[in-house]
Amino acid sequence: MKLLLTGAGGYTGRGLSEVLAAHHSVRGVDIVEKKTACQEFKVADISNYETCQKIIEGLDALVMCHMAPNPHGYKTPPMSFDINAKGTANLYHAAQEAGIKKVVLISSCGVLVEGKSNRDAQIGVGPYNYGKGLYTLTKIIQECIALDYFKAAQIATAVLRPGWIVYDGELVTKYGEKMERYYSSLLDPRDIGTAALAALALPDLGLESFNIGQHDYSEVNSTTTQARLKWTPTYRFESLPRVDDK
Ligand SMILES: NC(=O)c1ccc[n+]([C@@H]2O[C@H](COP(=O)([O-])OP(=O)(O)OC[C@H]3O[C@@H](n4cnc5c(N)ncnc54)[C@H](O)[C@@H]3O)[C@@H](O)[C@H]2O)c1
Repeated sequence: MKLLLTGAGGYTGRGLSEVLAAHHSVRGVDIVEKKTACQEFKVADISNYETCQKIIEGLDALVMCHMAPNPHGYKTPPMSFDINAKGTANLYHAAQEAGIKKVVLISSCGVLVEGKSNRDAQIGVGPYNYGKGLYTLTKIIQECIALDYFKAAQIATAVLRPGWIVYDGELVTKYGEKMERYYSSLLDPRDIGTAALAALALPDLGLESFNIGQHDYSEVNSTTTQARLKWTPTYRFESLPRVDDK
């Protein structure tokens, strides 16, 4: 399969590129030049529609892992909306025009309302965690866009909702903080990569959300995800002290 990976040079994108490029031909895209494992790399701004039309040419599926920089991209609306919302809509619309029918969207379990009753927040419907600021709002909008293009153009999307993304082994967050303890929400980007591979391989993928973590915890029902994708995380953060965070 020929894939697009947006945000390929980012913290998560770099791990995703390793896994995806080992199984598929991957065109990585980022607004800054970065070293990735993608077979092809383009510097491009996804907030420009014509650019999106060009970067998806000849591809079979899209993996969306772009995001506006945190924290400064979320202080006022323009950057977060241009990248997270407009960029995502641009890519879906260009996919519709090009006849591409499969997307993996990296969302966040931050869109979920905390608590057991909200484990199955429906894509584009919720219940959603409104009132938490521009990051969460634009992540919710991304899921709404996925719903819209599923209805309008039958584009199947696997919405992957990770919690806290950290490389096992490095144990340093994207903000440079050292991890001191284990959390159930921890996930290595390479495990998000294998979840994306599993979703892309589903012959009957529809519009589906996958809350992903080490195991079930609070709002994240990892068990149903693991059963549907036949996927389990490989990176278990075993060197970190365990805490009771079920
Ligand atoms: N980091 C976490 O703990 C975490 C947790 C949950 C979900 N996520 C999700 O994972 C995904 C990746 O997050 P990350 O933490 O790796 O972010 P990141 O900021 O490290 O990577 C995002 C990449 O997108 C690129 N980008 C920004 N604007 C662009 C544009 N206009 N055109 C093309 N590329 C552009 C950036 O240059 C960057 O390389 C996001 O969808 C985020 O919501 C992250």
